[in-house]
Amino acid sequence: MEKIKIALLGLGTVGGGVKAILEEKQDLIQERIYIKNGRKVSLEISKILISHPEKYRAISPVLLTADFQEIMNDENIKVVVEVMGGEEPATNYMLQAMERKKHVVTANKLAIAKSGELLENVATKNRVNFLYEAAVAGTIPIIRTINDSLVANEITEISGIINGTTNYILSKMTHERSPYAEALMNAQELGFAEEDPGSDVKGDDALYKIAILSRLAFGEWPDLDTIDCKGITEITPQQIEDAKKRGKVIKFLARTKKAEGKIIASVSPEEIELHHPLAHVDGAMNAVYLHCDNAGELLFQGAGAGSRPTASAVVSDLFAVIEQI
Ligand code: HSE
Repeated sequence: MEKIKIALLGLGTVGGGVKAILEEKQDLIQERIYIKNGRKVSLEISKILISHPEKYRAISPVLLTADFQEIMNDENIKVVVEVMGGEEPATNYMLQAMERKKHVVTANKLAIAKSGELLENVATKNRVNFLYEAAVAGTIPIIRTINDSLVANEITEISGIINGTTNYILSKMTHERSPYAEALMNAQELGFAEEDPGSDVKGDDALYKIAILSRLAFGEWPDLDTIDCKGITEITPQQIEDAKKRGKVIKFLARTKKAEGKIIASVSPEEIELHHPLAHVDGAMNAVYLHCDNAGELLFQGAGAGSRPTASAVVSDLFAVIEQI
């Protein structure tokens, strides 16, 4: 049995989910690797970077470190899974890891949207994978779909609900008449919201994700400042009720398309008809609606936030990395 050693950077909502899935599903993952690649491989977390190792008494102390260089200096660690979030030091750590010829898997939409070009270039230069299926729309395999399954298509337009927290809040306000603050608090308790939930409700989180989708669909990184961004903070119960009376629903939509050679992207609450494919995507669910020239229209729906769904996407990238090792 080959052992592939992995380091986790961070052990929060997503990191905890990755650790749990790798422990619980080790046999299933080994079987799937064998079916796909004919190799007997096990994935092993051999180091976890956290700021206060002394707080994690349930985890063997040999697994924990507060020193990133300990991971860099371990040549047996082939893959670094960055799930600490935030722009820095996460971006710098990912760059260092790839310079050391370690593959990187991340869920960090902020770091990718801001430094995606640099991260991709460093990955290419060092011939390592830089994968981020978990960064957009949680468990929906949208990145692999665009990169692989739809390779024979021009994608003409993407629209979607790609922030679970705001969809959860709007759904609660719409269907249960919950007050905004209470719905936001529930979303935080359920582990959907970012550490700074301002990033969800003001639209930054969805902006980063639509920037990433734009790059994958249209081949270039959009300038984040050119993306129109309006959050849900000013949506009132009255607006929601008025929309209902008109037979509509307010959804927080991200959109991107290319027109006259330019990417036109936006993030904003919109009133949509009840028969719109995104109108009944509720709770923390995400959905991505793609328009392609050959494949036609495709609609994907799945959990957009939360520990296990996001971790499931991270593990799918680990599965892809194995083929390169
Ligand atoms: N805060 C994000 C959301 C988590 O609510 O969608 C997943 O990126």
